[in-house]
Amino acid sequence: MTEQRTDPVVVVAGALVDEGRLLAARRSTPAELAGRWELPGGKREPGESSEEALVRELREELGVETEIGERVPGEWVLKPGYVLWVWAVRLRSGRPAPQQEHDELRWLTRDELDSVDWLDQDRPAVAEAAARLLPA
Ligand code: CDP
Repeated sequence: MTEQRTDPVVVVAGALVDEGRLLAARRSTPAELAGRWELPGGKREPGESSEEALVRELREELGVETEIGERVPGEWVLKPGYVLWVWAVRLRSGRPAPQQEHDELRWLTRDELDSVDWLDQDRPAVAEAAARLLPA
C-alpha cells in the first residue's frame, strides 16, 4: 500500500527588526483572528520561492520594500496542513503602515514582547526570532 502525502502549505513571515525592535502586526481580518498579533506574511503561491513570497507579502501588507536575511530556524504548525517559516527581514524603503489585513503595527523591544496578544501559533516563532535578532 502506498502512503499518500501532501506537502504542507508554507506560510512565510517576516521578523522585521529595526533599531533593536521587532515589528508586530495586529490582524483586522478574518473575524476569528481579528485583534491578535502576528509576524506579517502569508501563503507562498505556486512558482514562488519563499523569499519572493515574503517580499511580495510585506509589500502588500505593509507597503514597504524589504531585504530578506537569514531564516529563523524552526517550523511551526499553524493548523493541520499549514506550517510557518520565518526570516529575519530588514527594511529597504518605506515605512510600514497597515494596508488591508492589519489595523495596527507596533515596534517592540525584547521587554515589550509580551505586551501584545500574539496568535498562539506565532508565540514560539516570535520567541525564537527575538532570541536571535534582538539585543538582550
Ligand atoms: O495573505 P494570505 O492569504 O496569503 O495569508 P494569511 O491569511 O495572512 O495567512 C494564511 C494563514 O496563516 C492564516 O490562517 C493565518 O492565520 C496564518 N498565519 C499565522 O498563523 N501566523 C502568521 N504570522 C501569518 C499567518
